[in-house]
Amino acid sequence: MRRVEFRLTDAGVPQYRYVSGEGSEKMLLDWSNLGMETEQTSLCSGFSFISTCERSEAFSTTSRDTTWETVWGEERFIRDHHNEMTVSLRHSSGVLMNIVFRIFDDGMAFRYVFPEQECKDIVIIDELTEYRFAADHEAWSIPWRTEYYEGLWTKAPLSEKHDTLCSPLTLKLSDGGYAFLHEAALTDYPAENFYIKDGAVRLYLTPWLDLNGVETPFKAYLKTPFQTPWRMLILTRTLPELVASRIMLNLNEPCAIADTEWIRPTKFMGIWWGMHMKSMTWEQGLKHGATTENMERYMRFAKEHGINAVLAEGWNKGWEDWKNFEFTTPYDDWDMDYLSRLSDSLGVQIIGHNETGGNAASYERDLDSIYRYHAANGIHVIKTGYVAPIIRTMDGLQWNKGQSGVRHYRKVIETAAKYHIAIDNHEPVMPTGLQRTYPNLMSQEGVRGQEWNAWSADGGSPCEHVTVLPFTRIMAGPVDYTPGVFAFENPVMPNTRVHSTLMNQLGLFVCFYSPLQMACDLPENYMKHPNAFAFIEQVPCNWERSILVDGEIGEYCIFARQERGGDNWYIGGINADAPREAVIPLSMLEEGKTYHASIWRDGEEADWQTNPYDYEIDNAYVATGDTLRIRMASGGGFAVSLTQIN
Ligand code: NOJ
Repeated sequence: MRRVEFRLTDAGVPQYRYVSGEGSEKMLLDWSNLGMETEQTSLCSGFSFISTCERSEAFSTTSRDTTWETVWGEERFIRDHHNEMTVSLRHSSGVLMNIVFRIFDDGMAFRYVFPEQECKDIVIIDELTEYRFAADHEAWSIPWRTEYYEGLWTKAPLSEKHDTLCSPLTLKLSDGGYAFLHEAALTDYPAENFYIKDGAVRLYLTPWLDLNGVETPFKAYLKTPFQTPWRMLILTRTLPELVASRIMLNLNEPCAIADTEWIRPTKFMGIWWGMHMKSMTWEQGLKHGATTENMERYMRFAKEHGINAVLAEGWNKGWEDWKNFEFTTPYDDWDMDYLSRLSDSLGVQIIGHNETGGNAASYERDLDSIYRYHAANGIHVIKTGYVAPIIRTMDGLQWNKGQSGVRHYRKVIETAAKYHIAIDNHEPVMPTGLQRTYPNLMSQEGVRGQEWNAWSADGGSPCEHVTVLPFTRIMAGPVDYTPGVFAFENPVMPNTRVHSTLMNQLGLFVCFYSPLQMACDLPENYMKHPNAFAFIEQVPCNWERSILVDGEIGEYCIFARQERGGDNWYIGGINADAPREAVIPLSMLEEGKTYHASIWRDGEEADWQTNPYDYEIDNAYVATGDTLRIRMASGGGFAVSLTQIN
């Protein structure tokens, strides 16, 4: 049993600690400070419990054990089992502040709640939240200024992390356990970041910038009543338990959309990789990608291969200067009427694309008319983008992950829902589980994705990158990484390439979760390996259950997932540099049933550098109790489909 304890010090400083009482008493978090620095007053000490007579009257507790059904996700049913404790405090200045704690089996969370009170306006300068871990754990992180979170995660003991870091933070504990520190339900508040001081992990909220782009001391402008996002700590003995934690979703509000029938997970292809490989352009010209003819070719290919949607980037005017994008005006060589009718007749959706160039304000102003136009043309999924070419901020003014950016993204989701439009948000704020409330927020980037392997000056992401992401970025929510490259050479950037074997690309479809899952390569490249593409054709992107079979952060990762509403299972493996044998006990299969297994695996000679295309396909009949042993090459991987036959 674990518990959270709360106290006020003699000086009235709010503090909590997190203790495990299993066997001998163990400190998970030692006494850690809570509080706020505001423009009006310093809310870090001078608190008393609301009741003057009995201290216990300031505490109220509740328990909850419910199960809810997801609209889509890694799991159909999620259990929410927690105890809640509210501590009601009054500051010497008269400000009222409550702290609500929730204790789950696999972690804890708390948030500050400022109730209705005399003090109406609060400007937050600092949130004084601390996590005082009992030991110097190893942490994976990216620096807080990493543009759009598109960086390589690095590992070091907390004491050696001198930079300010983005949330989330993944920890390997000195006793062999794992932890994940992040926030949940970020709605009208700046995203959190972390820094380490005096042995404690502390919060640094993303600041507002002044007109010269200089950070101000101000982090959030709020009106009472308000509540902060949840500060969440998942803490488990094993990595599979860490990955299985659903605390973040449980901390978000239930679905706010009454009819969710129109929100459908789907795989998609797109006029996209060609632009990153520089064989096509976004803007109109000789190499224009999003032409009517090319789109029709993609849509017919998708139809033939059971893929239900095609993304088109560069269909609308404005790509010449990346500034004046027109979201309802196609280029002359894009016939929206024709393609919209074709989409209807083929049953292949068009996924729209709204690159704003970071001009969020003008986009926000026109949201209704933009979404009305898309919906009228049968477009119900839009990929949004905020690449500000020069100053990497929104409107040249504010960080995407500051309070204004968070508000903007929320407005986009809410407005899109009105028009039955789902969003795949690029250059986002780090996800915090809002998809529970708005399941039309289907996927997000916020990652150094596949595109870096097309043009990055450093030659492409190292093999280990993909084996870190399931335990860091993807713990925060679905990722639009865009797996599925089938041709690794780029004539335009000969020194840059995808550091993987073909089988690793297949493994990503299971290991990286997204309900909008892109098969990113060109049709002609898929046709070079049709029997490998067959896995992409069949793999679902919506699941009944998901299990991390095995893995180690930065080394390898093996997921097994059961298709939603079906009996079949899919297993994917991805590997970093050192070749290894994956051992997969098939204990998840239904007792007494036989399954046909198709196994796409690295060939004997496979190696991401020297022979990425070497693969074999095996077939077998298996049942629960059997164990698969599959060799993964350097940068390799595998994919397995298990079809129940009786
Ligand atoms: C960056 C996005 O990540 C990428 O997917 C997109 O193609 C470009 N911006 C253009 O919008």
